[in-house]
Amino acid sequence: MIELHDICVSFRSERQEKIFGNTRIQVLFDVSLKIGRGVCLGILGESGSGKSTLGNVLCGLLKPDRGSYTLDGVPIDGRREGKRLLQSRMSVVFQDYTTSANPRFRVRDILTEGIRAWERRSGQHTGRQEECRRLLELVGLDESFTERFPHELSGGQLQRVCIARAIACRPEVILFDEAISLWTPTPRCRSWIFCGSSRKNWG
Ligand SMILES: Nc1ncnc2c1ncn2[C@@H]1O[C@H](COP(=O)(O)OP(=O)(O)O)[C@@H](O)[C@H]1O
Ligand SMILES: [Mg+2]
Repeated sequence: MIELHDICVSFRSERQEKIFGNTRIQVLFDVSLKIGRGVCLGILGESGSGKSTLGNVLCGLLKPDRGSYTLDGVPIDGRREGKRLLQSRMSVVFQDYTTSANPRFRVRDILTEGIRAWERRSGQHTGRQEECRRLLELVGLDESFTERFPHELSGGQLQRVCIARAIACRPEVILFDEAISLWTPTPRCRSWIFCGSSRKNWG
C-alpha cells in the first residue's frame, strides 16, 4: 500500500564556506520500503538518525530530493490527487503533541473534529457523544475528560487525546512519531493491543 523507493533527503547546512554557499547535509540515503495493509512497522534509530524526517516524508510535509513515494499506486509528489489521498487515509501523531492540540478546544471538540472528518468522507453519522466516549476508552481515559481543556491534562493524557483524535477519523494509516513515549506501561500495552485488534477489525 505504501511504497518508498530510493528516497534521499538533505538539509542545507548551517555552516557554509561561502555566503551564498549551498553545502547540504544528507539525512536519508536511498530509503526504500513497502508497507502492506494490516502491517505494523516500527522504526528504530538513535536520536538524529532521521526517523522524524522519514515520518515527514511519509505524511507529505517534506518533499524528498530524490526517489518516489506512492500510496496505493498514487504518487505522493505534491500534486493535488496525492495530497487528497493522504489527507483522507492517514492520521499523524507528532512527537510534539503539546502544540498539536488547539488550546481553546475542549477534548470533546478535539475529538469531534476527527469524527466529523470521517462523517463527511463516509456519509455516515455516529452518536458523537458515544463515539467520544468510545475513543477515550480506547486510550485509557474515562468520559469525564471530554469537558477538559488541553492545559488541564498531564502530558501523557494529552498525548492520549491526540492519539484518540488520530483514530477518530478512522484512517487506514496512522503514523506515530514517538507518540507513546510518555505513556505508563498499562495504557501502552493496551494501545498495542488496540492496534492489533483494529488491524483485525478494520483491515
Ligand atoms: N528542517 C531541518 N533543517 C535542517 N536540519 C534538519 C531539519 N530537520 C531535521 N534536520 C536534521 O536532520 C537530522 C535528523 O533529524 P530527525 O529526523 O529529527 O531525527 P530523529 O527523529 O531520528 O531524532 C538531524 O541531524 C537534524 O538536525
Ligand atoms: Mg524524531
